[in-house]
Amino acid sequence: MSVRLLLISLAALLLAIAEALAADGIDPAADARAFRNYFVDKFPNVKLDDFANGPYSLNEDMRRQWEEKEQFPPYEFSLEAGKELFAKPFANGKHYADCFSEQGIGIRQNYPRFDEKTGHVVTLELALNQCREANGAKAISYTGDDMAALTAYMAFTSRGKPFDIKIPDDPRALEAYENGKRYFYSRRGQLNFSCATCHVQNPGERLRAEVLAPALGILNAMPIYRSEWGGMGTTSRRFITCNSQVRGVPLEPQAEEYRDLEYFLSYVSNGLPISGPGSRP
Ligand code: HEC
Repeated sequence: MSVRLLLISLAALLLAIAEALAADGIDPAADARAFRNYFVDKFPNVKLDDFANGPYSLNEDMRRQWEEKEQFPPYEFSLEAGKELFAKPFANGKHYADCFSEQGIGIRQNYPRFDEKTGHVVTLELALNQCREANGAKAISYTGDDMAALTAYMAFTSRGKPFDIKIPDDPRALEAYENGKRYFYSRRGQLNFSCATCHVQNPGERLRAEVLAPALGILNAMPIYRSEWGGMGTTSRRFITCNSQVRGVPLEPQAEEYRDLEYFLSYVSNGLPISGPGSRP
């Protein structure tokens, strides 16, 4: 064998070893522990479950106003609408309940889930539209009021249940997780910020009038009512808004990368209770 060929095959071997090591290096359970520890160390006075309340866990003033508001929560209207929409049969007589385990009640903490048949991540929003389409109804907007209402109702029936996201022993599931993690830590937009820049490095800080939510538990309260929006926002809407805040180009709602991102963020918040629907000033 020529020296040149030997070098090339040696390089190929090293690359293969590096790739194997990198794949082996995917350890979601270790990531989740480190993620949680980071926030617990940074905010020693916040109880673990309280991170599920977003900015309220880090800001006393906001918290007091919120607790008063919770007497007449602004998402009440959407919650009622969601309950009605959920119960309304499709033209074929079937219901959303027929598409989910437990008739869809108290299962929000299991989403997103990895679908071993297709090899992709299925979020709750996607599952709702898949259910519609399987029953001959048109998909609804991922950023609209009906999707927010339906997910608000489903979150409400899961309140207090800990996130329980599973990553099956399937290389495609690990890949999806890793892809979501990569998205979360990648810098983008004209401001060159990653999600982590705001929600890991600067939670509790003010950005204009808003207090940045901690990334631990950041999806537990979705969907969220915002006065600024004058209504509810789905997870899809929130991701798009946050991408636009750094003057980046948002993806299509429920694009694969957004679903993987949701998979990663939900997984690292396993054990924290569902608190949605939420409301913000
Ligand atoms: C420039 C800073 C910034 C960046 C970067 C950013 N966000 Fe946000 N994000 C905000 C602000 C401001 C809010 C509204 C206040 C709050 O709740 O944190 C918010 C809210 C959220 C919320 C709702 C949390 C809650 O409790 O109200 C989620 C979920 C979220 N962001 C996810 C993301 C994800 C995922 C990314 C990366 C794609 C990202 N954000 C990037 C600033 C940012």
